[in-house]
Amino acid sequence: MLVVESGEPGEDDLDVEVEAGGEHSHGDKCLWPLNSHTEAKHRLYKRYISAWAPILLQEAWVHKVTYLEGFAGPGEYAAGQDGSPAYAIRSLLQHDRRDAMRLSRDRVTMIFLEKSAARCEHLKWRLEKEFGVLRDLPIKVEVEQGRAEQDTISALTRHDAWGEPILGIFDSFGSVRVPHSTISRIARNKASEVIVTFGPIWFSRRETINQSIFDEVFGSRKAWLRGGAPADADEGWRYWLSVYQKALLDAGFDYSLQFEILPVSGHPLYLVYGTKSVKGVLEFKNAMWNVDKDDGMRFNDPRTNAARQAQLEQMWPSLFDEDPDVAPTELRGFVLDLLEQGPASVAAIGDYLLTETARWRPKDAMWAAKQLLADGMVSRAPTGGQLTKQTVLSLAEQPATAGTPAEG
Ligand SMILES: C[S@@+](CC[C@H](N)C(=O)[O-])C[C@H]1O[C@@H](n2cnc3c(N)ncnc32)[C@H](O)[C@@H]1O
Repeated sequence: MLVVESGEPGEDDLDVEVEAGGEHSHGDKCLWPLNSHTEAKHRLYKRYISAWAPILLQEAWVHKVTYLEGFAGPGEYAAGQDGSPAYAIRSLLQHDRRDAMRLSRDRVTMIFLEKSAARCEHLKWRLEKEFGVLRDLPIKVEVEQGRAEQDTISALTRHDAWGEPILGIFDSFGSVRVPHSTISRIARNKASEVIVTFGPIWFSRRETINQSIFDEVFGSRKAWLRGGAPADADEGWRYWLSVYQKALLDAGFDYSLQFEILPVSGHPLYLVYGTKSVKGVLEFKNAMWNVDKDDGMRFNDPRTNAARQAQLEQMWPSLFDEDPDVAPTELRGFVLDLLEQGPASVAAIGDYLLTETARWRPKDAMWAAKQLLADGMVSRAPTGGQLTKQTVLSLAEQPATAGTPAEG
């Protein structure tokens, strides 16, 4: 049974979370149990924040960085596990490159916005319990009661964030109602990025949601209707995610990644990341690959739907995909997709994988190329010599299959 509960009934139409089997209900409660998709997401965020801060704080032009969470939560879960603000702060204070970052209150501001007064209070208490009095910390940590959709811009202004890098995390219970204008203001700021999460309920409740909210979130009605009619209920999330990914590009980001986080049990979570930095894209993907996935957690590319996967697996028995030395079906599929548009060098394939797919990186191009050549799926120019980044690949001529009518 699915239990859908409203955070504050009547007020936040979209502020809901779905839990399986009545696992928990948060409602007005201050704390709620940690679920598997949140835990999976935390592991990814920790990795990414640990990469983001030292990179920027060692840039000569950067004087300060601002990290803002729009939906901060109470700072911990019912069994005492960390909420995102606690590990975000720890990722900086306990970083092994802390000295190189030259942390100071002038150089790092972390803003945590939380709508509920009780959760806001709890968050302050939880952070001070671990880190001591916040105003004595070597970085500025601000916990503020506020609403992400209306208070993000003013908080960034008040804390003098503009003109320097900002990382904005908008991680609601599944409601994305941060206006496109807010995202766009961050996108247009130098070296700034956002991470926005969607819970599964977001996609299924769209029928009941006031369409003007979509207009605000996606930027315009045209922006969220651009892909034609949204797909049916089961596949609808792919539509909404890719439309939101495009909305981030409209907002001013140059790159946007979308993917599904699939924990070993429980519901998936959907995440879109926007940046102007190709290095940011690489770091984000590195964080995905470095997250401990021993428990079976996966990151999926929303564009590889079940039909596409089945089609690819017909080309290559899926048995091979279980071999860690063999490039996965999805990766080879993306390379073939690109080559369908014309020949491409291994380097160009690498660029495409980095910027156009959810998790593949430039180095995977060589891996895929070798196997597609070995399988006879592609040909190369020059035909001999070592395979290099300059080698150009083309789709191989496919032999007529049995059952193809003979000509003449
Ligand atoms: C999914 S929880 C955040 C969890 C937290 N980021 C973490 O990972 O530990 C969402 C939080 O956003 C708060 N919230 C809901 N609507 C909000 C809004 N419009 N602005 C700011 N906070 C909001 C809720 O009270 C809740 O504590």
